[in-house]
Amino acid sequence: MVKNKPIIIANWKMKLGIPETLELTKAISKKKFPKAEVVICPSFVSLSEAGSILKRSEIKLGAQDCFWESQGAYTGEVSAYYLREIGCDYVILGHSERRKYLNETDEMVHQKTRMALSANLTPIICVGETFSQRQEGAKDYILIKQTVKALEGIDLQLDKKVIIAYEPVWVIGSGQAIALSEAEAAHQVIRQSLFDIFPSSIVENNFRIIYGGSVDSENVKEFINLENTSGVLVGGASLNSEEFIKLIEAV
Ligand code: PGA
Repeated sequence: MVKNKPIIIANWKMKLGIPETLELTKAISKKKFPKAEVVICPSFVSLSEAGSILKRSEIKLGAQDCFWESQGAYTGEVSAYYLREIGCDYVILGHSERRKYLNETDEMVHQKTRMALSANLTPIICVGETFSQRQEGAKDYILIKQTVKALEGIDLQLDKKVIIAYEPVWVIGSGQAIALSEAEAAHQVIRQSLFDIFPSSIVENNFRIIYGGSVDSENVKEFINLENTSGVLVGGASLNSEEFIKLIEAV
């Protein structure tokens, strides 16, 4: 698994309008972060302008979703190719909020992953159990199912990178991250399921497994230091420039 510079991905969800997005992007882009790769994922409407601000920095741009077809009569959807044109390098797919509110299925996440890769975007595939699935003892099953269904049958070339974000659904936005040992155990399950569907060279070179769910400037370093963890996906703590910069600098 790739574990050089940790990757820190900000998911701004539908929480910032255009002026706030640009203000936050400007504040972050003025800084240099030699020890981390930083990606920001604003809403679609701000991508273009945020991308122009980032041109002078090393921070990368990501979208929060894309469609599974490249082009056509799909009113309201956004093509992975258009995201690439606008300067995106990454796209979040299968976030639990989309699975919950928009009924995204593993099959849709799979099709979107294929499309993202074909448009040269790095997919950030979110997997994670809900609280009731956890209580039923189905956590590992969910992690394996979501990971395998998203990726099985996709021919990954060596230059195609994929990020899997383990986000326990019940922890997102709660202010209380899970225990480090639990994150590590979940990441091992995910990693193991990748070995079932890809050659080990692909798992080692192409994949990064990251953690998301109430990451902040206090706990980020401990997560990054876990053996099978290459970065973090951050929601709430990335919405304020001071806290987000502190979080990146804590790594
Ligand atoms: P959170 O969100 O950091 O606010 O828990 C993470 C996410 O939903 O990606």
